[in-house]
Formats: sequence, C-alpha cells, structure tokens
Amino acid sequence: MDIMFNNLSKQWDMIKEDVTPRLEALFKKSDFIGGKAIGEFEENFAQYCGIKYAVGVSNGTDALKLSLAAFEVESPCGVIIPANTFIATALPVTYISDITYDLILVDCDEYYQIDVELLELYLKKNRNKWKSCIIIPVHLYGHPSNMKRILEIAEEFNCFILEDSSQAHGAMVLNKKVGGIGDISAFSLYPGKNLGAAGDAGVITTNNEKLYKKVKSLRNYGSSEKYHYDFKGWNNRLDTIQAIIVDEKLKHLDKWNDMRIEKAKKYDDLFKDNNEIITPKTAPYINKQVYHIYAIRVEERDKLQTYLTKHNIPTIIHYPIPIEKTKPFKHLEHFDNKKAKQYANELLSLPMHPFLTEEEIEYIVERIKTFTK
Ligand SMILES: Cc1ncc(COP(=O)(O)O)c(C=O)c1O
Repeated sequence: MDIMFNNLSKQWDMIKEDVTPRLEALFKKSDFIGGKAIGEFEENFAQYCGIKYAVGVSNGTDALKLSLAAFEVESPCGVIIPANTFIATALPVTYISDITYDLILVDCDEYYQIDVELLELYLKKNRNKWKSCIIIPVHLYGHPSNMKRILEIAEEFNCFILEDSSQAHGAMVLNKKVGGIGDISAFSLYPGKNLGAAGDAGVITTNNEKLYKKVKSLRNYGSSEKYHYDFKGWNNRLDTIQAIIVDEKLKHLDKWNDMRIEKAKKYDDLFKDNNEIITPKTAPYINKQVYHIYAIRVEERDKLQTYLTKHNIPTIIHYPIPIEKTKPFKHLEHFDNKKAKQYANELLSLPMHPFLTEEEIEYIVERIKTFTK
C-alpha cells in the first residue's frame, strides 16, 4: 500500500480545468505583479472568512511579521505565544528592529492550544513590565484556541491579539471562522496547508481598516502610492500565479475540510479501545476543528515512528524541538513548559488529507495496534 502523508496532486486534478485558462490569460496579459487575481482572491477569502479585509502576502511568516509591524505599540512590548508551535510564530519578532520585543512562551493545554489559565496568571504577574503587549494564539493542528477567554484576557490586560491561523483555514469558534476574532490574523498558504498554494504564499485578515491599510502598504515597500513611502516596508506581495491557485482551491476548502473530519472520525473510532494511544481531543468551546494534522500521543513515539516507516507509513513529528531548545531562542530556556516538553516527546502526526481511504486508515491503525500490543 502506497500511503501518502498528504496528497496535493489529487487537489491539482480537481482544479486544473479551472486554473489552466486563468493561467493562459495571465501569461497573455503578463500582469505577474499585482495582477487582478490577487484582488479576486482577497475578496473571496475575506468573504469566506466573514471578515472585512484580506491582504495576500508572500508567505505565513511574512504575514505574521507584517501583522506585528502594523500594531502601534511602544517598547518594550511583550509578545506571548504558545510554547508548542512552529518556529515561524516566534521568528518575526526578530525581524523588526524599531521595537524591543520580549518573547514569552506559555505552556499548552490538552487540546495543544495556549493554556488560557497560565496566560492569565502570567499577565497578572508580568503585564506591568511592558508598555504594550501582543498575544498570538496559534490554532494549532486545525483546532481553534479558546478565543472567548483570550478576548477577555486581552481586554483585561490591554493586549492586542494576532491570531496565527496558519493551520486552521475554515475552523470555527464563537460561531465565527478563525481569522476574524482577534485584531488581525496571519494565514500561511504553504502547499501542505488546508488551503495551500503551489509554492510560498500567505494572507492576512482583519476587520480593522487602519490595520488593513497599514499591512497593505507594508507588504509593498511601505507604499500605498507609487514612489511615496509611508513606512519602512518590505516586498512581501502575493504572487499572482499563487493567487489563481488558492482562489480555485478555496472553492473546495469546505468540502476538503469535511473530508478531513470524516477521516479523523474513522481514526478515532478505530483507536477507541486502545489505551496506549491518546487521540486528538475536541474542546467543548469550538464549533469546527479542521484536522490540518491528526496527531496522536504515545510513550514509545520514536520506536513507533521507525516501525511505521518500515511498513511504508509516513509520519511527521510536529514539533520535535521546543522553541526554547532551538539555537535562535536558547535565551528562552528558562521557560519551563512541562506539557510542551512532554508532548514534544510523545506527539506523532499520522497521514491526514481529504483523499485518504478507509483501507489506508484501517491499515495504519492495525499496524499501530500491533506495535503497542
Ligand atoms: C503555525 C504556523 N505559523 C506560521 C507558519 C509559517 O508559514 P510559512 O511557511 O508560509 O511561512 C506555519 C507554516 O509553515 C505554521 O504552521
């Protein structure tokens, strides 16, 4: 059985008839930079999320950087992120030199989201250290963070909220799609994401007109009018070819997310009687989890991974090295996040994509059960 961790070529099969004439038209017109497909995608994505504005950008890391840079904050500025996330959530604070940021890692909860009780406790003790503060909840693995509590905490401690929605396109909480709940949101459109381009791409969403105008300018050298510069910006525009791809894929996103949910349910059912495996939990406060990743926890994780590789079952560890153990963030080693550390040793992401077959899932679970017996 040739099991794939993700299957992007099946997505291409489903969009190529619609993408090809749009690419033909683009190459004829040659408006590669700032072409009309960008505006079309931005409008469609904003509408999909139920948000006023969307701004296409170069990738998810830049989406986070531009969003951070758009806030009017003063130094020192606390930036709080969950301890268990991809390094790209942490890196952008190192890209902006005008502000002194203080990066804080808060431990995660059983849903792998930022632990809101610890977040509140940390702010109670430390908020007075900074003039400004930004909270970055990451809707990790496609499961929304506890936005009700995060909104309350942000209000109480006067913090901005930047959602990192890179793994949760279409996920819902508070009866809204993620991306429109905090002040601003960054989405990666990396190929393997639930909504992914054919290369690097990203998008920012916000309901705030001022932030919208600023990120739009910042992505284009800091200019909203040619050769006039309001800010020190970057060249972080969305590529027109990528805009066409994600605009076509967006039409399939809900269906593909529902297919992921079906696959997750099948995994859950088959693992039901197995006490060795901890399957992903769904928090009572969410409306829709979109299973970007289906991560299980198991004690002998590394041995299990080797065993599955031998049986042609691809798996990935998201993420094997906690942020504070990576070279760029060694100075954060004093953050002793017990759960994040424990989970980094136990988590294993199983194949998950809309086109995974029942037989494939049965085979994967059977192999895991044989290993854990
Ligand atoms: C949670 C999270 N944040 C940020 C990023 C960065 O996105 P990109 O790779 O598009 O720069 C990713 C994905 O790679 C991610 O998963």
